[in-house]
Amino acid sequence: MKQEESMDRQVLVEDVWKSFDRGRIEVLKGVSLKVPKGGIVALCGTSGCGKSTLLNVISGLEEVDRGKVRVSGHDVVNESTRIDLLRHHIGYVFQFHHLMPDLTLQENCLVPLVATGGDRNAGMARLRELAEATGVAHRLGQRVRELSGGERQRGALVRSLMNDPELLLCDEPTGALDESNREKVFDLLLDLVRARGRTLVLATHDPDLARRCDRTVKMRDGRIEDDNAS
Ligand SMILES: Nc1ncnc2c1ncn2[C@@H]1O[C@H](COP(=O)(O)OP(=O)(O)O)[C@@H](O)[C@H]1O
Ligand SMILES: [Mg+2]
Repeated sequence: MKQEESMDRQVLVEDVWKSFDRGRIEVLKGVSLKVPKGGIVALCGTSGCGKSTLLNVISGLEEVDRGKVRVSGHDVVNESTRIDLLRHHIGYVFQFHHLMPDLTLQENCLVPLVATGGDRNAGMARLRELAEATGVAHRLGQRVRELSGGERQRGALVRSLMNDPELLLCDEPTGALDESNREKVFDLLLDLVRARGRTLVLATHDPDLARRCDRTVKMRDGRIEDDNAS
């Protein structure tokens, strides 16, 4: 593949198979997906169809049985580049935020910076900017356990964007929130990603949220059933 071509294609998944329990539970059954730079894609489908597994495979958190996975032209299946990709190119927002409850929000958000050895002053400036944009600036000094569900999820969004990832993966990022917070955090997520021209792949079982993305990819039983881009 030519370099230009591979860079333009932020996510490339080709005929990926993934099973658990030594092949007894087949979860991804020949999934292929291409997302260009700046693409905003919702993976949808009922619970258990394989959305989270596909996100984990794209991020390299989960190994594949066979198939190809590339992010920004880098081979995710290749062991040696995987950690580097996760630290520098990919942001991840989990359904239940996965922030450390006894650390302050600020300390949590600085973790990705420490992991990559980024400049502290630049990091603090970025943290402030993102915290302003997400409305949690006044909560940065608070321990995560003292924050509301909406504030935690906004905080998780801030953390995921600290290293300015080219690709943001979100797994049901508003799944733990009530309806009014769900809408707000979802809008914020789309605004942040669009304003920066970043690529977003998000899993949601909520068709209303999926419709607000540029493209919906419907999964069913480990396969892609419908992709409104193709
Ligand atoms: N580590 C695992 N071990 C065994 N089965 C798993 C594991 N992870 C996921 N699964 C199974 O894979 C299927 C798809 O799960 P998942 O990707 O979480 O679906 P979704 O996110 O669409 O709800 C489910 O049946 C789930 O039980
Ligand atoms: Mg899931």
